[in-house]
Amino acid sequence: HDVEKINDYIVSYLAKNSVFVKEVYVCPHRRSDACSCIKPKPFFFQQAAAKFDLDLTASVAVGDHPHDIDTTQNLLGSGVYLLSGHGRKHFHELRAGTLAAPTLREAVDWIFALKQYDNKVLKLQEALHKAGEAIKNGKLAAFPTETVYGLGANAFNTQAVARVFEVKRRPANDPLIVHIADISQAERLVEHFGEKAQKLAERFWPGPLTLVLKKSPNVPDMVTSGFPNIAIRMPDNQLALELIRISGVPVAAPSANPFGYISPTSAEHVRQQLGKEVGIILDGGQCRVGVESTIISFVNTLPEVLRYGGIPIEEIEKLIGPVIRKNTNQAKQLYPGQFPRHYSPHTPVILLKPGENPPEGKSIGLLGFGSSKETAQFTSIEMLSSTGDLDEAAVNLYGALHRLDALNLDVIVARLVPDEGLGTAINDRLRKAANQSIQIPETEKRQTE
Ligand code: TXA
Ligand code: MG
Repeated sequence: HDVEKINDYIVSYLAKNSVFVKEVYVCPHRRSDACSCIKPKPFFFQQAAAKFDLDLTASVAVGDHPHDIDTTQNLLGSGVYLLSGHGRKHFHELRAGTLAAPTLREAVDWIFALKQYDNKVLKLQEALHKAGEAIKNGKLAAFPTETVYGLGANAFNTQAVARVFEVKRRPANDPLIVHIADISQAERLVEHFGEKAQKLAERFWPGPLTLVLKKSPNVPDMVTSGFPNIAIRMPDNQLALELIRISGVPVAAPSANPFGYISPTSAEHVRQQLGKEVGIILDGGQCRVGVESTIISFVNTLPEVLRYGGIPIEEIEKLIGPVIRKNTNQAKQLYPGQFPRHYSPHTPVILLKPGENPPEGKSIGLLGFGSSKETAQFTSIEMLSSTGDLDEAAVNLYGALHRLDALNLDVIVARLVPDEGLGTAINDRLRKAANQSIQIPETEKRQTE
């Protein structure tokens, strides 16, 4: 009678919460009866499976006796142990590695999370193959890397590469980085690797480092904008590497943003900016590094930094000695792609000097770093890192700019961060975002307005 009362209560309680129990099974026997339905025998599970045509391996059971879990482990996909009063009493008998939930609610949450997770992984695999096939066949696909999202095309398919320039509204004189999944692929793209470039590749690939080397003649000129050199990198992201392998070709990919605008560090950023033009966007979550790769050129006698990025120059110099550091923010463009205004939101960005106050009477967004006392005068604040961690700030930089830019503020203010580690790359982006000296032509702004 008690058991019936409890079961009725559970059924009506769950029904109120839109969970409808189809069948209740109760073993009416005593332990000494040695019946076929006593736990851990799977009798009831099998009855339920037969009656409701269930795939037991895709099922999860919740129980508060170790027997329940044993039954499910013999028969089902998995079991969740419930730490009810009874459950706590027998907890010590539980096998190591069993998942335990404090309440039924958490157990159910976990089951739903598990289902979604399985689904997500499956969908990602599917998407990965679709994206790989698309690239192989001359279509475009956006994909995550550890730095920012890229817009990928088969590097040997000039039509696909042309489409990348078109979709991004990118000037034809701004060459693309070619992404590879293993070193032999790189060797076929260049004349030869020098000793120092080799050293860097060994140490930092896969990783946020791009090497510029003399290109081999079989690389289409369109990829390198007619320059005799090619930029190559091996991204440190499993989805990216897998995508390159599946496509079977080196993948030319710029950051997946309209030219001159803030780079994307999430699939959502890509969707917002290029979703209309790019059908396939692989979602690998938030980028781990958050700023683009460091670019080192080996074209001249001495190695030279063309872009500050995810690998600090200090680490590179430790390995290969001094590299030439140029001011990458001067108005005159020294190298392809070194545009003084770049990575820019539509909202004007002002870099405040130490001690300088933000302008008055305007709606202002702050890109903050470290413990900041100034708060009152800002409409919105984005903290890049409240503890003053430069790696964390790099991860948050573009996302914060995207969010502030969506608020229609009068101005975004920021201060330079310490010029060390990833701070050099962050400062480079801040200066370029704030640089008003060259306006992006209207056609190139179109997509994001
Ligand atoms: O982290 C990254 O490098 C990201 C992800 C997607 O891999 N890619 C990226 O690409 O930042 P993009 O296109 O936004 O910037 C590539 C820059 C060009 O603007 C140019 O400055 C330089 O790489 N570059 C490419 N090819 C070059 C070449 N042959 N010679 C000199 N510079 C080159
Ligand atoms: Mg870019």
